[in-house]
Amino acid sequence: MRRTLISCCLSLTFFFSQAQNTATLDASGKGDQQINKHIYGHFAEHLGRNIYGGFYVGEDNTKIPHTNGVRNDVVEALKRLQIPNLRWPGGCFADTYHWKDGIGPKADRPTIVNAWWGGVTENNSFGTHDFLNMCELLGTEPYLAGNVGSGTVQEMMDWVQYVNFEGQSPMSKLRRENGRSEPWKVKYWGVGNEPWGCGGNMTAEYYADLYKQYATYLGKGYLDQGIVRIASGPSSDDYAWTEVLMKKIPLHLMEGLALHHYAVINWDDKGPSTTFTEQQYFTTMQRALKMDELIQKHSAIMDKYDPEKKVGLVVDEWGGWYEVEPGTNPGFLYQQNTMRDAMIAGATLNIFNNHSDRVRMANLAQTINVLQAVILTDEEKMLLTPTYHVMEMYKVHQDAQYLPIQLQSNSYEVGGEELPAVSASASKAKNGVTHVSLVNIHADKAQEVAIQIEGSRYKTAKGRILSSKKLQDYNTFDNPEKIKPQPFKGAKLKGDKLNVTLPPFSVVVLELT
Ligand code: AHR
Repeated sequence: MRRTLISCCLSLTFFFSQAQNTATLDASGKGDQQINKHIYGHFAEHLGRNIYGGFYVGEDNTKIPHTNGVRNDVVEALKRLQIPNLRWPGGCFADTYHWKDGIGPKADRPTIVNAWWGGVTENNSFGTHDFLNMCELLGTEPYLAGNVGSGTVQEMMDWVQYVNFEGQSPMSKLRRENGRSEPWKVKYWGVGNEPWGCGGNMTAEYYADLYKQYATYLGKGYLDQGIVRIASGPSSDDYAWTEVLMKKIPLHLMEGLALHHYAVINWDDKGPSTTFTEQQYFTTMQRALKMDELIQKHSAIMDKYDPEKKVGLVVDEWGGWYEVEPGTNPGFLYQQNTMRDAMIAGATLNIFNNHSDRVRMANLAQTINVLQAVILTDEEKMLLTPTYHVMEMYKVHQDAQYLPIQLQSNSYEVGGEELPAVSASASKAKNGVTHVSLVNIHADKAQEVAIQIEGSRYKTAKGRILSSKKLQDYNTFDNPEKIKPQPFKGAKLKGDKLNVTLPPFSVVVLELT
């Protein structure tokens, strides 16, 4: 009898320790780490229908409401997202782009071929003024990527002078002649893009030397404007690239180091964006969650050369990458966006929040109609994707105080491999409200999370959830609100204990007051 009781207790203990995830939230707010709002940045490349048809429909468009050619529906949606920064004009396009082609009267602007993306004609009707004025309309900070691959130091210096110089100079004169008297004071400058690939197939050593040359002249006269020079960093786990750049580039020449990492199953067989299997979903999540290890290992290298963490890690391209939608131009990278993308977004943003001591900026690739977009358009129609809704729910973390949360998660197992089912991050907003974001990536099991709260007492816990019936669900132009945040009823607060039930593949953001 006694033996039966003991074994019964043991199996119950086993059952519950498997079934319940546990976490400890340090809500004391003792630390001074902030989650930089720029982690929630976006990316607008001249690629497919991102700029043309996405952001910009032209000043003469009579079908789609716009302001100086920029879609009003897009502006309104992105303002709601509070996008902190927007990277432009690439990507690979940046190293083929000569900014002087995109200024002055539109009729006089030369046309070029967009060699990287579909070989289409680029008429340069959307250029520097169009982009920077659009950023003002959006209330967002521009992040310009300069041309290193096929440009010159002089060309990039001229660009900085054109957009940032207040006094009299050849470039500020040209800017005024083109209708803009006040400089835009652009803070964020990327020095090339992927120089190890489409940006020139360079070695790290060669790029580091080139970078120093560019950074010297970009900084000249602009450092007191708080200019941020961002070196093109590694692809995923190319730790050698980080090592060389950190070793060769003096800290006073670099404020940011970029990192690009996509959640792609296999570059030769990326799988469909909507009709994926559970195995494909699991592999995508393995790739997405790898971001945590990448940040840890790149940060460790950066710590060696920059122990005071002066240089920010800037993950200026991230997101899911699948085969393009059947029947669309393969060079346009147009893909649908399902609950799988919501899982990537929620889990990745938790990783960024939890590494906000080093990760100061990030850019989801890309904003409209390209890769893991937040918005899709079809002529006058527009829809918000599940990824949009995650970014909107998570905006509460922007510039909030980081709160550490230690989590022991159950596993999500497929094909003998395991991933943590649950991820979490937390912060305290300036108005004193604490937010906890939780993601359950498990495809078919709900997760109970028991959170022990230390250092603060709350009276209420409420929130919103993003979930759907099937992982493969997505919003369509006929049913644009199939997936959208709903009030969340699965949180119970009792004293210092918060119990949360997360349905399979769901994202929850809780508000504790
Ligand atoms: O985001 C699409 C492309 O992916 C970018 O142009 C390039 O930088 C990366 O390889």
